[in-house]
Amino acid sequence: MIENTIRKIICKRFTRETGFALDNRIPSSEGLSEKFKDIDELGVYLHIPFCKQICPYCPYNKEIYDPDVAKKYVAAVRKEIDVYAGIVGNRPVTSLYIGGGTPTTMLHNGIEDILTHLKSRLNIQCDIHMESHPNDLSAENLDKIGSMGIRHLSIGVEALQDRHLKTLKRPYTTEEVKVSVSRAVSNNFTCVNVDFIFGLPDQTHAEIEQAGHALVQLGVDQVAAYPLFRFPYTGFGSNSDGSIHKISTIFRRRKMLKILEDIFYSAGFDRTSVWAFTRRGVPRYCSVTVPLYIGLGASGGSYLKDIFYLNTFNVVEYIKTVNRDTLPIALSIDLTRHLQMAGWLYWRIYETRFRKEDFRNRFGTEFDSVYGKYIKPLSLLGFLKGDGEQIVLSDRGTYWLHALEDIFSINYISKLWGTSQTDPWPEKVVL
Ligand SMILES: C[S@@+](CC[C@H](N)C(=O)[O-])C[C@H]1O[C@@H](n2cnc3c(N)ncnc32)[C@H](O)[C@@H]1O
Ligand code: SF4
Repeated sequence: MIENTIRKIICKRFTRETGFALDNRIPSSEGLSEKFKDIDELGVYLHIPFCKQICPYCPYNKEIYDPDVAKKYVAAVRKEIDVYAGIVGNRPVTSLYIGGGTPTTMLHNGIEDILTHLKSRLNIQCDIHMESHPNDLSAENLDKIGSMGIRHLSIGVEALQDRHLKTLKRPYTTEEVKVSVSRAVSNNFTCVNVDFIFGLPDQTHAEIEQAGHALVQLGVDQVAAYPLFRFPYTGFGSNSDGSIHKISTIFRRRKMLKILEDIFYSAGFDRTSVWAFTRRGVPRYCSVTVPLYIGLGASGGSYLKDIFYLNTFNVVEYIKTVNRDTLPIALSIDLTRHLQMAGWLYWRIYETRFRKEDFRNRFGTEFDSVYGKYIKPLSLLGFLKGDGEQIVLSDRGTYWLHALEDIFSINYISKLWGTSQTDPWPEKVVL
């Protein structure tokens, strides 16, 4: 397949390897303590793997909310925090993100407990960002979210036409979701983000335009507009016609994204990542923002310079393992220097901008000596706006370079998450 060939060529060029694998070699607590010796600050990601219903397109690790399991989950996460507290010490946590699943399923039974414990065991020095479901945003719940110190809230709106909400099997109407979003917007958060999916079956340009204007009118601070990705192991994926990377799909999405870009730019938003547009002057809502982080909970992933590892996805196995005072890590991969550099570049392209100085500080070598040869041709193609120290991707560059990245990410996520969702302790996953 052409995709596989492209993948191999790019992979070899950027990482000097033709492929990689995660396996079940588990780092010890002592090994992790050693890694933290020269880490000054870290991020924390907390995964809440529960939802009230399962959406057919969703690739994330989640299961139907059960209060008994959730209670045991809270106790297990507290224990996992304790283990990390011994490893991390007093290092400042400068980014904290709660994702899922649906964190707001545990708003009245667990989240606060976990946050209080986190604050008592780790040196939290930052605002909290959290995902939420529109149906969980009553006035009372919004007050509760605010009172827990969550300043940045994301809402999974997904669509603003009833027929598309139906296709996605979302449990609300357009009118209902607008009321939830308006309520959140009037609640004094630093940033309210809404997730929106485009490229839905039979979606017209006029519908995308209408939804884009409606989002601006609702007064949200940020829109994360994702194209519908079809992961083979989800309900939508199994109906797929194999068109994930079809050239026609990629061009169709570009046109749709351009409609949204025009609406958001003229409403005073700036692009803050491949898919996100943020009202000028508002700090952006985003996942963990610092390069090195630990992931808590089932399927939490951690990245510590030269290692990436992933907790088991299975909630029962996660709870059992943590209760044996063992870190619930299922898979890990040691990252060569070239792999670390390629990973760094991948995320900077996602964020659409970077400073060469950051590369120098991270890797002790000049950006140009490693990737400089790509800058001129990309500039000639109109993909880059900046030169010199600061590199900024143009809208065209952002889209096409990320489309190239997707050839990797969708495939890797499908293999890694797909396997991890069926096997709690895989021996090896070859990417
Ligand atoms: C964890 S969910 C958001 C919070 C909450 N669970 C909800 O559904 O409202 C994360 C977001 O990822 C996006 N997403 C999920 N599956 C997707 C897919 N297959 N393609 C594109 N975006 C997707 C959706 O916009 C979704 O809101
Ligand atoms: S989209 Fe949100 S509510 Fe739906 S299954 Fe995924 S995490 Fe759960």
